Amino acid sequence: MTQDEMKKAVAKAALEYVQADTIVGVGTGSTANHFIDYLAGIKHKINGTVASSKASADRLKSHGIEVMDLNMVDEIAVYVDGADETNRYGQLVKGGGGALTREKIVAAASRQFVCIVDESKVVDVLGTFPLPIEVIPMARSLVARQVVKMGGEPVYREGFVTDNGNIILDVHGLQIMEPAKLEQELNNIVGVVTNGLFARDPADVVLMGTPDGVKKLD
Ligand code: A5P
Repeated sequence: MTQDEMKKAVAKAALEYVQADTIVGVGTGSTANHFIDYLAGIKHKINGTVASSKASADRLKSHGIEVMDLNMVDEIAVYVDGADETNRYGQLVKGGGGALTREKIVAAASRQFVCIVDESKVVDVLGTFPLPIEVIPMARSLVARQVVKMGGEPVYREGFVTDNGNIILDVHGLQIMEPAKLEQELNNIVGVVTNGLFARDPADVVLMGTPDGVKKLD
């Protein structure tokens, strides 16, 4: 089974968490794209969606699925999204696609966060995947210097601008032993908008695609 087939299988399995007559939060990335394609099959059963990126909004609309403004929505029942890494507690590194800030916002507005990954994303210690940080452009060097003091190696994602008009620093060389603490410390640096650690508020459910089928991480 290929990695993409595992992504497809786990995306399909997430449909079980979508309840009729509710609003669905939708993530970003190749696994989330498969979820969007499956969601199209039940679009008449849901009340609409909130998207975590322009790319996902465009894909949802191309299927004729309604995309709503988060400010117009009282409650999102479930948020479904992929991740770049997850540990066994559902603490995540996200933002490989650069959508981390909106992803964190939609996740925070949702009752339940269902994370969908293929088995290659499951790790013991977070940090092998470079940790993305969204930064206000004028603070790029200031933030990078602070990150170096914390033991990371920030790399500017050249040519990339987030949906919010900001830049991304990808931080290499971290072994994240205390994800919730690091998430808070990075957020405290002036000029940081968000970082890609979802540790203080982890996923509620992690579904993992494997060659033997979809498994739920306990
Ligand atoms: C997008 O910014 C990311 O957080 C994605 O959720 C993450 O990169 C997973 O992407 P894939 O599903 O493409 O692996």
